[in-house]
Amino acid sequence: MNITIINGPNLNMLGQREKEHYGDFSYKKLVDTVKEHAAYKSVDLDVFQSNHEGEIVSKIQTSESDCFIVNAGAYTHTSIAVRDALAAVSKPFLEVHISNVYARDRFRHSSYLSDIAEGVICGLGIYSYIAAIDYFVHKYSSV
Ligand code: DQA
Repeated sequence: MNITIINGPNLNMLGQREKEHYGDFSYKKLVDTVKEHAAYKSVDLDVFQSNHEGEIVSKIQTSESDCFIVNAGAYTHTSIAVRDALAAVSKPFLEVHISNVYARDRFRHSSYLSDIAEGVICGLGIYSYIAAIDYFVHKYSSV
């Protein structure tokens, strides 16, 4: 099974940005951890990060993976374009967040992605991604 993780703007700043919300692990640590877990679960994993909305849209359009794990960062709360790209390719995806967006600013409580996502995982730090990988492994291996 192929999964693409899509990380949006400022996630490359993990380890430096707002540690009270995102913890002190770096972006490299996040990538290494999810890749190690994916290898353990025999998942073919592609991890992508961009600070640019159009690049995220293009990645969604051109990816050949079976499904997506999407942390669109702030674009979660603003981007009709990212939503439309996910709707256009019509592949299953999970929306993930490192922080608990519902315990934060009100504008983070709304998402352009949640209602078309298969599910939403937030507040678990790196484990939000691990849980998302495990969900797809379970979904695609239990038939
Ligand atoms: C985030 C939450 C968003 O509100 C924020 O803009 C981010 C990161 C998270 O992973 O907790 O950049 O998606």
